[in-house]
Amino acid sequence: MILVFGSINIDLVAKVAAIPAPGETVLSEGYEKAFGGKGANQAVAAARAGAGLRVRMAGAVGDDGFGREAVGNLAAQKVDTGGVDVVGLPTGCAFITVDARGENAITVGSGANRKVSAEAVSDTVIADTKVLVLQMEVPGRENLAIARRAKAAGATVVLNIAPVASDLPAVLAAELLAVTDVLIANEHEALALEASLALPTSADERAAIAGLARRYALTGIVTLGSKGVLAVEADGRETAVAALPIVPVDTTGAGDTFVGILAVGLARALPLQTALQRAAIGASLACLGFGAQAAMPDAAAIDARIASQVVSG
Ligand code: RIB
Repeated sequence: MILVFGSINIDLVAKVAAIPAPGETVLSEGYEKAFGGKGANQAVAAARAGAGLRVRMAGAVGDDGFGREAVGNLAAQKVDTGGVDVVGLPTGCAFITVDARGENAITVGSGANRKVSAEAVSDTVIADTKVLVLQMEVPGRENLAIARRAKAAGATVVLNIAPVASDLPAVLAAELLAVTDVLIANEHEALALEASLALPTSADERAAIAGLARRYALTGIVTLGSKGVLAVEADGRETAVAALPIVPVDTTGAGDTFVGILAVGLARALPLQTALQRAAIGASLACLGFGAQAAMPDAAAIDARIASQVVSG
């Protein structure tokens, strides 16, 4: 089983010509409501690509309409919602602007995500977990607590260090990395994490991820947008895969799609190159629709894309 411990949001998304600068107001023709939250997105991506692999969500929503809709959506996507608690804060909400190039800016009102609790996850669930997936939209101490338990029980711990809060304590970051098997960061996050840890600044994100992989004896993966993905193992071995050449409609959730599909590859014990390739293809395909979850591919869509590359290549 894949256990995703993390955030659940409703996304309110407005398309704009250009993302507003501080102090600026821009008008959008309207807005859309979509399902989001890095944790929920990763769970949906894993369930779609997992073709029957069990995916469970551990998180929290408020006792409100957004919460009921979000849980209903997860269930409809075949994610086990038995670990989603209803707490006394409003369901998380993300305010997203997407510009004409498909790039976004996001503010998350955390709400119920602040109450996500490791203690609420039973030992039985931990014992069933093959891959634990974490991100940083829930309290870091709770991430650490569940990661330690899962690691001790033999699970693979995947940490998507997104977002990297500017006040992430160095000790907490180091303790988390000490129990992480696979670290996933984008270009900015790799360098921001290095800064949080008060490590000397690397020349670029590739050097940063390599340094973190070596220092913490983990596999570090940096996602590079249209330039694909680079994985560096603790011994320095590198694996690079390309992204699909696409014109993005909306990049929201692309990183989450990558994480969810990679978790499926890890749970299935696929070779790293194969797992990375499937995840990178899935992340590219997810950019072809509006909203974080709408265009996430299922296993058949990923297979078809790989097959078409083999034929045309
Ligand atoms: O990674 C994209 C997600 O970040 C959005 O769905 C939004 O909810 C924020 O959490």
